[in-house]
Amino acid sequence: MFELYLDTADIGQIARFSACLPVHGITTNPSILAKAGIGLTELLPKVTEALGKQGRIHVQVVGESADAMVKEALRLQELPYDIIVKVPATEIGLAAIKQMNARDIPVLATAIYSVQQGFLAALCGADYLAPYVNRIDAIGANGVGVVADLQLLLDRHGVPCKLLPASFKNTQQVLEVLKAGVASITLPVEVASELFAHPSVQPAVNRFTEDWQEAFGRTLSFES
Ligand code: E4P
Repeated sequence: MFELYLDTADIGQIARFSACLPVHGITTNPSILAKAGIGLTELLPKVTEALGKQGRIHVQVVGESADAMVKEALRLQELPYDIIVKVPATEIGLAAIKQMNARDIPVLATAIYSVQQGFLAALCGADYLAPYVNRIDAIGANGVGVVADLQLLLDRHGVPCKLLPASFKNTQQVLEVLKAGVASITLPVEVASELFAHPSVQPAVNRFTEDWQEAFGRTLSFES
C-alpha cells in the first residue's frame, strides 16, 4: 500500500493532516527537530497520540562513525514505536547500513543526490531511499529524473527497496514522482497545504451553496 508521510515535527500540523489524509507517519531529520525545538522523548508519544500506535516515524542518526550509528540504531529500535532509522548515504553511512541490514534493523538511506548513490544504498540493504528532489533541482540537476531512474533500476534488478522521495517545493514535483511509480512520499506541510489550494475549488463549492440556499434556504439535503 502507498505510504504518505509528512516531513515535519510540528504536532499541530501532524494532527491537522491526519484528520483529513491517510498519513502513514512522519519523517524527521536533525534540522527539522532543531527547528521545531523538540527532542524524541517529547515527540514520539505526541506523534503516537496524533497518528495512533501504527504511525511510522523516520528518525535520523546523528552518530559520526559507522559503529556509533549502529549503536544509536539499536537504541532507537528498543523504543516502543515503529521507527525507521535514517542514515545518510555517505561512505560511512553505507558501512552502517550494511551492518544494520545484517541485524534486521529497518533503514532509510537519506541525503540521496544521485541515482548511483541511491542504487548502492539499496544494494547495501536499505529498505527506503530518500532522494532530495528539490535540492537536486537547486544544484542544476533533475530531481524527478533521479527518482524515475532509481525506480527503473530497482524494478529492473528486483531490489526490494521503496523510494520515499523528499524535499519538495511545489505540487508539480509531487505529481511527477508519483507518475514515476514511487511507493511512498514525504511532503513538507507547505506543499501538503498547496495540494488543497487549487484556486477553482472553493469558488465551485461556494456556487453550490449559493444555488442551494437560494432554492431551499438553510434546509439540509434530506429535508428538501
Ligand atoms: C527528508 O527525509 C529530508 O531530510 C528532507 O525532506 C529534506 O527536505 P528539504 O530540502 O526541504 O530540507
